[in-house]
Amino acid sequence: MANKLQRYVQDDFDALNKNVIEQLHSEVPLIENIGQYLIEAGGKRIRPLLALLCARAFGYQGSEHVNLATVIEFLHTATLLHDDVVDMSEMRRGRPTANTRWGNPSSVLVGDFIYSRAFQLLVRIADMRIMEVMATTTNKISEGEVLQLVNQHNIAATEADYMNVIHNKTAILFAAACQSAAILAATDTETQEKLHIFGLEVGMAFQLIDDVLDYSGDSEELGKNVGDDLAEGKPTLPLIFIMQNGNTNEKKLISSVIKQGGLEHLDDIINIVRESGALDYTREKAEQRIEIAMDCLKVVPESAYREGLEAVAAAATKRSK
Ligand code: IPE
Ligand code: IPE
Ligand code: MG
Ligand code: MG
Ligand code: MG
Repeated sequence: MANKLQRYVQDDFDALNKNVIEQLHSEVPLIENIGQYLIEAGGKRIRPLLALLCARAFGYQGSEHVNLATVIEFLHTATLLHDDVVDMSEMRRGRPTANTRWGNPSSVLVGDFIYSRAFQLLVRIADMRIMEVMATTTNKISEGEVLQLVNQHNIAATEADYMNVIHNKTAILFAAACQSAAILAATDTETQEKLHIFGLEVGMAFQLIDDVLDYSGDSEELGKNVGDDLAEGKPTLPLIFIMQNGNTNEKKLISSVIKQGGLEHLDDIINIVRESGALDYTREKAEQRIEIAMDCLKVVPESAYREGLEAVAAAATKRSK
């Protein structure tokens, strides 16, 4: 997906990459080591890219959008450090996860450092509305992760439960990236709301596809292990679809893996998931979200930046990593 999506704001994107390294500074070497380990491994930088594009699309001429994009990437990075502990994941961005290399306590604590660094940077941007958006966003992300924890191993989880989880844990940060950039660019409230919805819909699609890729992706290309959701007994949409539409045998197998987790039946499950139409169904849901997102972009003046926003939105469902 990276496919040079950053080309619409190349200079800003380079400034962002420089800034994320610089702003990670700490007197404590372990913090810099872990932070840089994860940040230098890359990542698609899709959320900060959205922030940069939105700010420019509304004619923003200052330089705070780079700090704002850095805040967004830091919040994302902190959630990844925590997420890999919670999910007991072993691979991220093509490398062993920080928790695999340094252990859970280091990952949790450095996650907290990066998270609080994001808020230090936000204070420097000094916009109370943006502060409010970010405070709400981080609070909602935590809610989403806890909600997901509550639904772990729950064979009765519904599509609505699932949508609620991904709305909070993932989509809200995409929404915040776009909305806060629209605030920075001094647009009117209605426009900011539209950009919030745009980001939200792209974020929903992004997580729907992430959950498809957890069954259909290639670990090497993804840079993370497929089957992580299954191993943890997470009822993501592909499994929920089968619980509702599969035959008796399929439902029996899926409910037992949701209850127990583990990768013992991975190959069987992957076959069922692929043949049942569950992945097509999930992809279709993602496409519908992108249609809504594209419609929101009508409020953005035509420009190369708007094309960039369209390209990012389109790529969210086309990606293989
Ligand atoms: C991973 O996000 C976490 C999800 C919400 C699915 P990304 O796929 O954007 O991860 P990086 O930053 O590119 O590694
Ligand atoms: C990511 O969900 C959500 C957050 C990081 C808050 P996943 O757990 O599916 O992300 P990956 O697949 O590990 O990147
Ligand atoms: Mg995870
Ligand atoms: Mg997770
Ligand atoms: Mg995932």
